[in-house]
Amino acid sequence: MGQETRVQRLSRHDFPARREELAEVYRRAYVGMEKYAYRAEAERRAYLEWLFQRDPDGFLTVCQEGRVVAWAACHGDWVGPDGRTRAELHELVVLPEAQGQGIGRALLGAAFDLARERGRDRLGLWVGRHNLRARRMYERAGFTVEREGRTWVRMVAPVAPRPESDDEGSLHP
Ligand SMILES: CC(C)(COP(=O)(O)OP(=O)(O)OC[C@H]1O[C@@H](n2cnc3c(N)ncnc32)[C@H](O)[C@@H]1OP(=O)(O)O)[C@@H](O)C(=O)NCCC(=O)NCCS
Repeated sequence: MGQETRVQRLSRHDFPARREELAEVYRRAYVGMEKYAYRAEAERRAYLEWLFQRDPDGFLTVCQEGRVVAWAACHGDWVGPDGRTRAELHELVVLPEAQGQGIGRALLGAAFDLARERGRDRLGLWVGRHNLRARRMYERAGFTVEREGRTWVRMVAPVAPRPESDDEGSLHP
């Protein structure tokens, strides 16, 4: 604790330089929960590339002492199977040693900010069925289960308009 959690968008310039670091945060965050993650290095690289290119403004990072310790990827204009456009949180990872400091919650808040900026009324995600810690975090943030499969659970939250008095954004350009 004790460190300010500053969520930043990753620039197109910074992405290539940070690629290895981002992949390592992802790999380490899923140690012990590998069934919910890409395990091959090439798959992780392709996944990162896809997440970033699809919506660079939704690629959010948290750094501590100059190193990325957490990141999230949110697509603000995701078209679901029902043809509706909504915001979709595709990924959220925090290094094990940085967990429990409120970083996950801060990144989730920034994903809601992006959804709000794009005028979306829903933020959706898929989470591993047995990933109870993440599920608890999402439930506390207002997500409810839309459907539950054998491996993955679909969760959706309403995107509330920002109260007029709350003009202090959590997202740093
Ligand atoms: C799930 C994850 C993103 C949470 O990130 P985090 O930075 O540790 O979360 P926070 O510190 O913001 O805490 C979020 C909630 O988890 C709870 N929590 C924190 N540490 C915890 C712990 N050790 N055990 C259980 N719950 C814990 C907190 O109480 C908090 O709930 P609150 O908001 O009601 O207080 C992180 O654990 C992670 O990267 N997990 C592996 C990857 C993953 O599962 N990603 C989700 C993909 S859908």
